[in-house]
Amino acid sequence: MQDTLTLQLVGKQLLSQSGSSKEAFQLTFERTSGEDFNYRCGDSAAFWPENDPGMVEKILVHWGIDGRQVLNGVALRELLQKQYCVTHLTEHFLEVIRGQLGGQDGDVFDRYRAEDALQTASLCDVIDLFPSVKLTAEALLPLLKKMKPRLYSIASATALRADRMDLAIVVVRYENFRKQERHGVASHYLCHRLSMRQPIPAFIAHSKFKLPVDSSKDIIMVGPGTGIAPFRAFLQERAVLRARGEIVGRNWLFFGEQYRASNFYYREEFEHWQASDDLVYLDLAFSRDQDYKIYVQDRMRERGEELWHWLRNGAYFYVCGEAAHMAKDVERALLEIIHRYGGMDIPENFLQQLKEENRYQRDVY
Ligand SMILES: Cc1cc2nc3c(=O)[nH]c(=O)nc-3n(C[C@H](O)[C@H](O)[C@H](O)COP(=O)(O)OP(=O)(O)OC[C@H]3O[C@@H](n4cnc5c(N)ncnc54)[C@H](O)[C@@H]3O)c2cc1C
Ligand SMILES: NC(=O)c1ccc[n+]([C@@H]2O[C@H](COP(=O)([O-])OP(=O)(O)OC[C@H]3O[C@@H](n4cnc5c(N)ncnc54)[C@H](OP(=O)(O)O)[C@@H]3O)[C@@H](O)[C@H]2O)c1
Repeated sequence: MQDTLTLQLVGKQLLSQSGSSKEAFQLTFERTSGEDFNYRCGDSAAFWPENDPGMVEKILVHWGIDGRQVLNGVALRELLQKQYCVTHLTEHFLEVIRGQLGGQDGDVFDRYRAEDALQTASLCDVIDLFPSVKLTAEALLPLLKKMKPRLYSIASATALRADRMDLAIVVVRYENFRKQERHGVASHYLCHRLSMRQPIPAFIAHSKFKLPVDSSKDIIMVGPGTGIAPFRAFLQERAVLRARGEIVGRNWLFFGEQYRASNFYYREEFEHWQASDDLVYLDLAFSRDQDYKIYVQDRMRERGEELWHWLRNGAYFYVCGEAAHMAKDVERALLEIIHRYGGMDIPENFLQQLKEENRYQRDVY
């Protein structure tokens, strides 16, 4: 059971600089009640986004749906705006509309289907391509997926400031199968449509991705892109503990992004922590500053011997960010390092031991 909080946006700062191919923002939220937060470092904030109002309007107008009509106590416009997903379609929806298409339209549909293109179609694509399809609101809604909450790793620590919560969000952009530019529903909503002080429901998604209970342990953090978010929180928390006189282990961060000039998020903070020894090593991998790719796992390999010494001495190893490629490649590099410098024939066994001791933690998406 999650407790719903009402948050309001109180700060918005562009983390990426001009020249970046993507927009990354730091968003800062407070509770509308004025109360403090009680999340822990490693937790995420979850939000229900709202669909693009232009898309919702197009759906209402095309199918002649009165947005003011109430269904189960909620106006149809609001249902389409907040409670249903209009950007990804279900198999059931596709079957129903195929049943309405004949002749040339049916052939076009089948061709798109064979190319898997409709898997990435939105309701507006269907309206544009097959305007003859007719649906009432009562028929449409049960064919749609419910809107899912989106999670964002919290990038700040309550030990430093308990009344505010920072997030680091990249605005997802992609080209659909019609070669039209589209954006992610939640990342665009939060970064571009949510107004300052506008109340927004959210909840804290508690995570097992946690700092060592024993703060004297060393930590190694690998966080390219927005994967940096929880590690900023970790570093804030450990800097506060250290300033209070507690024994805090060493911190080592691997960060990667496209360009040093435009994507070195939180540069000043990291350099400040380096100067104060709160960050012992900062290894950077800017993938597009040269004509070949350099990724965080390349930096790990370069620092393999030292990394092995940290692990052998009990360090915790954390990975956060993209799941499909980065997290797998980082694990491969870690296994190579254990094999090469730890002299282990079956490095998977050592990795398993790290997992069992909670010393290998991943928060990947
Ligand atoms: C634990 C956790 C922590 C996270 N932390 C962060 C964080 O700190 N910062 C951050 O930025 N993100 C974070 N994320 C990711 C975040 O939750 C969202 O998944 C992300 O912002 C994309 O959501 P969206 O609604 O903007 O995109 P969506 O609209 O959900 O789109 C998602 C993806 O589907 C693809 N897609 C969607 N529709 C189509 C289409 N019609 N055609 C082709 N492709 C399509 C897009 O390529 C896109 O990548 C985290 C995720 C998890 C699980
Ligand atoms: N659909 C989209 O258009 C889109 C756009 C942005 C983000 N996203 C999603 O949003 C999440 C986070 O994105 P993000 O912008 O924070 O960061 P990201 O896309 O993960 O990029 C961060 C850095 O990681 C590099 N990288 C790419 N592949 C890698 C690999 N196999 N191993 C190590 N590093 C690798 C990138 O390099 P290069 O970019 O130079 O390869 C970049 O320098 C991911 O889930 C991503 O899939 C989707």
